[in-house]
Amino acid sequence: METPHTSLIKTDVRIGSLDLGAFPLLLAPMEDVSDPPFRAVCKQGGADLMYTEFISSEGLVRDAVKSRQKLDIYDHERPMGIQIFGGELEPMLGAVDKVAEVSPDIIDLNFGCPVKNVVCKDAGSGMLRNLPKLIQITAELVKRSPMPLTVKTRLGWDDKSKHIVYLAEALQDVGVAAIAVHGRTRVQMYKGAADWTLIGEVKSNPRMHIPVFGNGDIDSPMKAAEYRERYGVDGIMIGRAAIGYPWIFREIKAYLRSGAVHAPPTVEERLAACSEHLERSLQWKGPKLGLLEMRRHYAPYFKGFENIKEIRSRLVQSMEPEEIWVLLERIRSQYASVQV
Ligand SMILES: Cc1cc2nc3c(=O)[nH]c(=O)nc-3n(C[C@H](O)[C@H](O)[C@H](O)COP(=O)(O)O)c2cc1C
Repeated sequence: METPHTSLIKTDVRIGSLDLGAFPLLLAPMEDVSDPPFRAVCKQGGADLMYTEFISSEGLVRDAVKSRQKLDIYDHERPMGIQIFGGELEPMLGAVDKVAEVSPDIIDLNFGCPVKNVVCKDAGSGMLRNLPKLIQITAELVKRSPMPLTVKTRLGWDDKSKHIVYLAEALQDVGVAAIAVHGRTRVQMYKGAADWTLIGEVKSNPRMHIPVFGNGDIDSPMKAAEYRERYGVDGIMIGRAAIGYPWIFREIKAYLRSGAVHAPPTVEERLAACSEHLERSLQWKGPKLGLLEMRRHYAPYFKGFENIKEIRSRLVQSMEPEEIWVLLERIRSQYASVQV
């Protein structure tokens, strides 16, 4: 019997020589989130392609420790994209050279970040105010990059300048190998709902042949299936919904494959993922920063747990790894028999 989505099964999506399988699910680049510990749990959750958080081109060229550390990628994470941002050609060329030294599968350009101190240097979505410059810089970076170069961007700067259909085609023409589009403008920041209408138009443009990935507000298998069908994208990029819930990838895959709703993770699975994430975080960033950076993840890992508030507030206040392990053990004993 035909399942609801088998009619949509497509051929493998390729970026350069990289084969991502049919309808890949991408983990979005997220500053202070998409680090190796988080990527490890998302890989186990089923992410097909992952990115580092954005890295400053100027920082890389200066060899700043903070920027250089973000270049660390591991074989078990592949395929991996490293994302850079910048507003001027020279440092971006230098950054591409530095990134190429660690041989990621993809180099991604960030033309979407809406944050003021990035935008004011013409970087991130700031570049959306000057499309000729954006396209020209990208063309030079494509020539320089030994690996496929991709772009992540937004619909446009503001409501009056949603030029993404034109921009996507122009980027393809200068050699960009894939594009991911977040369905908001810069001015919107994260407000309102992501509008995928123009992402659908980018994809249905008969001149487009590179992969087009949709991004924005996908937080359930049903929404992923609905948006795939409605907008025809080649794959979906997921950000916030994966925080504390790396199972989103396998759940979407199961639903797209068979229309079946995957069982949610058990308490044990949630504890195992959180513990692995914490352990890797402590190793990666050290006891202080490792603990601090885990704080945003506890609430989503244990979302829906009744009366968890007291444990949760201690998790996000403690500066002692030992105490955190004890608190996680308390969750185990308190919720072991609960269906969340
Ligand atoms: C905490 C946070 C950090 C982010 N950092 C980056 C980044 O470094 N590079 C980037 O291209 N987008 C960044 N984004 C945007 C996401 O990649 C994504 O486009 C956005 O969250 C919409 O997708 P979502 O609704 O699935 O979260 C960030 C978003 C969040 C929430």
